[in-house]
Amino acid sequence: KNIAVAMGGYSSEADISLKSGEVVYKHLSSNPNFRVYKAHILKKSWFVKMNSGKEFPIDKSNFSVNIEGETIRFDCIFNTIHGTPGEDGLFQGYLQTLKIPQTACDYYQAALTFNKRDCISVLKAHGIQTAKNVYINKGDEVNPQAIVDHVGLPCFVKANRAGSSYGISKVKHRDDILTALEHSFKEDDEVIIESFLDGREVSVGVINIDGEIKALPVTEIISENEFFDFEAKYLGKSQEITPANLSRKQTENVQNLAVKIFRLLKLKGLTRSEFIFHNNQPHFLECNACPGLTEASILPQQAKAAGISLQDLFTNAVEVALQ
Ligand code: DAL
Ligand code: MG
Repeated sequence: KNIAVAMGGYSSEADISLKSGEVVYKHLSSNPNFRVYKAHILKKSWFVKMNSGKEFPIDKSNFSVNIEGETIRFDCIFNTIHGTPGEDGLFQGYLQTLKIPQTACDYYQAALTFNKRDCISVLKAHGIQTAKNVYINKGDEVNPQAIVDHVGLPCFVKANRAGSSYGISKVKHRDDILTALEHSFKEDDEVIIESFLDGREVSVGVINIDGEIKALPVTEIISENEFFDFEAKYLGKSQEITPANLSRKQTENVQNLAVKIFRLLKLKGLTRSEFIFHNNQPHFLECNACPGLTEASILPQQAKAAGISLQDLFTNAVEVALQ
């Protein structure tokens, strides 16, 4: 089978995605059943990059590539794009029209999941607890006092459709809300402002494996910074404890909730949801439908803790996509 690992994307997360893609490429390549290629999906161009460094343009009319006279069509795309267009449904929709399977969820589920406000609204309607929020579009009139009256302080100001903590600030004073909004608007033209939930933060990977939807061991995140920001995520400024030191009941509770969310949102492949145990109840923060797969990322750590090798994890995702 010919597999393309799609990596990059058009957002600030492109560099992280390229790292995720390299990890997936490395582990999938050791499977003798696969011929694996690196498909760079970048703003400037789409191309397959060989280990020699040579680049071959992708024909967007059918996602094929001609490599030194041989035309290659792909049986499956391993989607490791974070952010647009790979996590918000655009790339999924494109591949669906071409009938090329890919490892992440379908276009609609991706668009819904990547939109923090809409995802929260849907899950709230199903009785899942979340933080209070306010939603702001670029150009809307903003009344910081009204925001503070609703969500309290501190609060989190987040780009509504972004990842890796790009465009997020923790705000402690009303007068800092406008600066935080400007920061978020660099990433997206929609912002969500959420109340701060005091409590332990956990992350739960959920995957389809062996015909089942399964939660991986839970990770507790203890950030040295004010919150789990970019530096805490990727530059070592946090402790990630897997399996988390929770009671068995808490663990089951949050794992069951993460599986419920996977089912409700009709997700597929490798996913990871974040929660805060607030008043001992897991509150949903967000779900990542194309989670980070770099060496520093959480989902690979959880798979290893579950005794699943990365080769098996990634091969399984391809097999699920091909079903
Ligand atoms: N958005 C990053 C890559 C993550 O969720 O892991
Ligand atoms: Mg995220």
